[in-house]
Amino acid sequence: MLELVSRVEFKLNHGASYPYSICLRNMLGIRYLLIVTFTCQALAADILMATMGGTKSHKIPFWELAKGLISRGHNITFLSGFPADFHIDGLHEVTPANLVEYIQNYTNWDLLGARMNGEMPIKPWDGLRYAFESCDAMLGDAETKDLANRTFDLAILDGAYPECLQGLTHLYKIPFMYINTVGFYTGSLSLAGNPASYAITPNFYSSFTDKMSLYERALNTGMQIGQNILHSYVMRRTHRIMRDHLGAHIPHPYDMSRNVSFILQNGHAVVSYPRALNPNVAEVACIHCKPARPLPKDLDDFISASGASGFIYVSMGSSVKAANMPESLRRMLVKTFARLPYNVLWKYEGSAADMQDLTPNVKLSRWLPQQDILGHSQLRAFITHGGLLSMFETVYHGVPVVTMPVFCDHDVNSAKAEVDGYAIKLDLETLSTNQLYKSIMKVIHDPRYRNAARYRQNLLLDQRSTALDTAIYWTEYVLRHNGAYHLQTPARNMGWWQYYLLDVVGLYLLALCALILILRRLDIRSEKVRNPHYPNLIPPTKKKSKKL
Ligand SMILES: *[C@@H]1O[C@H](CO)[C@@H](O)[C@H](O)[C@H]1NC(C)=O
Ligand SMILES: *[C@@H]1O[C@H](CO)[C@@H](O)[C@H](O)[C@H]1NC(C)=O
Ligand SMILES: *[C@@H]1O[C@H](CO)[C@@H](O)[C@H](O)[C@H]1NC(C)=O
Ligand SMILES: *[C@@H]1O[C@H](CO)[C@@H](O)[C@H](O)[C@H]1NC(C)=O
Repeated sequence: MLELVSRVEFKLNHGASYPYSICLRNMLGIRYLLIVTFTCQALAADILMATMGGTKSHKIPFWELAKGLISRGHNITFLSGFPADFHIDGLHEVTPANLVEYIQNYTNWDLLGARMNGEMPIKPWDGLRYAFESCDAMLGDAETKDLANRTFDLAILDGAYPECLQGLTHLYKIPFMYINTVGFYTGSLSLAGNPASYAITPNFYSSFTDKMSLYERALNTGMQIGQNILHSYVMRRTHRIMRDHLGAHIPHPYDMSRNVSFILQNGHAVVSYPRALNPNVAEVACIHCKPARPLPKDLDDFISASGASGFIYVSMGSSVKAANMPESLRRMLVKTFARLPYNVLWKYEGSAADMQDLTPNVKLSRWLPQQDILGHSQLRAFITHGGLLSMFETVYHGVPVVTMPVFCDHDVNSAKAEVDGYAIKLDLETLSTNQLYKSIMKVIHDPRYRNAARYRQNLLLDQRSTALDTAIYWTEYVLRHNGAYHLQTPARNMGWWQYYLLDVVGLYLLALCALILILRRLDIRSEKVRNPHYPNLIPPTKKKSKKL
C-alpha cells in the first residue's frame, strides 16, 4: 500500500495529471484516512483569496471554503478590509490598514434612517466612488505592496468588485476564480459569457422576481442598462488607478474579467432563481450552513423560560449597524416585542443602557450564534433585514421570516422569499407597530409559512454533494488543469449585438434589400423586353428615375 502511495505522490509532485479518483476511492475507507491526507496533500497549493466587499458578510463564504481547502493541505492567504475576529490554523489574513480605514469611513452610515425617510440608503455618487476609491486605498497600502512581491498558484476573488484585485492576479500571472458573493449580481457572470436575460433576471438592486410584467421588464431593463453604463465609467477610473499603482501594462478590467477560470455562484435554483449557467459555474449557496449545535447556557436558560410557546429571533445583520437606528424605529420595535407572547432574542450592537424601556421578555446581545438559534426547535420566527446569507440560513433551517429590507440586494432577496411563501416583506418607510405585530403573529400562526419554509428546506438539502464539496472539487479542478480554460465560452469575447445576432439580422436585411432591388431591376428590364411598344406602361418608375 505504501508503495502505491509513494508512487502516486511521485506522480503528483512532478505535475502529471492528478488522479482525483484515488483520493475519492481512498476516502471511502476510514482506515486509509492517513494515506488520504498524505496523498491529497501532494496537490497543496498556495492560494490567494480576496474580497473588496464593503460589508463583513462577504468574508463568510471565503472562510468556509478556506477551512475546507486548508484541511486538504492548501495554504490560504486572505485579503479583506475586515480584521480577523478569530484564528484559523493555516489561514493567513491580510487586512491592509488603508483599506480597513477607508471602509470604516465609508460605512459609518445610518442606512435604516435613510430607508425610513424614503431616501436612497447609499447616494448614487457614493455607490460609484466605492470601487475606485477602495482600489486606491488598497493598492496604496504597504501591506498590499508586500503581497505583490509574493507568488501564488491561484486566486479566488469576490465576484463583487473583483476588478482591482485582478490587477494583482495579472502581476502574478495566475488563473483566478470568483465566489460571486452577491448571488443576484449578474455583472461578473455576464462578463464571463453567461446568459443573463433582462426578461427573467431581476436586477439585484430591484424588488422584482423572475416573473415580470411588461412595465417591470421595461424598468428592469432600464436599470440594467443604466448600471452597465455607470459601471463602465467606474471601470475607466479604476483602470487608471490600477495603472498608477501597478504599471501601465495592466489591461482594462473588462478584458481581465473575461478570463475568469471558474465562478462559484452564491445561489441555487431553490433559494435564488433557476437560470442557465455555463460549465465553468457551480452553485454553492449555503456553503456556510451547518446543523445547529447546543446553545450557550445563558441563551438556553432564556429560551427555556419561554416554555412551549417558543421564542423569536431578531437580527438586522452586520452591515446595517442597528445601533445607529433612528429612535422612532427602536421604540417601535421595543413596543412590538413587549406585546408579543414570546421571548425575543435580539442581536443589537448598542449598549443595553440605551434600552431602559425594554420588557423582560427581550434579551439583547451583541453577538448571537445565528445558525444554532435558527436550528433550535423552539424558534417560531426570524425577523431579518433580508441579507442573502440570512435568507439561505433560514431556508436551511426551515424557519419562516418577516423581512425589513434596507439596501443592496435585501429587496430582491425578500421578494424571492415572499413568492416562495415563507416570508412577509415589510416596508420600513411605512412600518407601524401594529403591522409588525400582525406580521409576526401571521408567520407563526398561519401554517402555510412554516410549511413553505420546510418545503424549501427539503429541496435545498436534496443535492448530489454539499456546497463545500462542490466548491473544493472545482477549485482543485482549476488547479489540476492550470486554469481549466477549456470550460470558457466564446460568448465572453462577443459584443451583445454579435451574441444576439443583431449583426447577422442586419446582414440578412441588407441581403434582402439587395435582392429586392435586383429583382425589381430584372423585372423592369423584362417588362421593357416584353412590351417594347408600350414604354408608357411604367411611367412612375420612369419619372422617378428621371428625377433621381
Ligand atoms: C504553506 O505554508 C507553509 C508555512 O508557511 C510552508 O512551509 C509551505 O511550503 C507552504 N506550502 C505551499 C504549497 O505553499
Ligand atoms: C478617514 O476619515 C478621516 C477623517 O475624515 C480622514 O482623515 C482619513 O484620511 C480617512 N481615511 C481614508 C483611508 O480615507
Ligand atoms: C517588492 O519589490 C519591489 C520591487 O521589485 C522592491 O523595491 C521592494 O523592496 C519589495 N518589497 C519587499 C517587502 O520585498
Ligand atoms: C488568462 O489568464 C492566464 C493566466 O494568467 C494567461 O496565461 C492567459 O494569457 C490569459 N488569457 C487572456 C486572454 O487574457
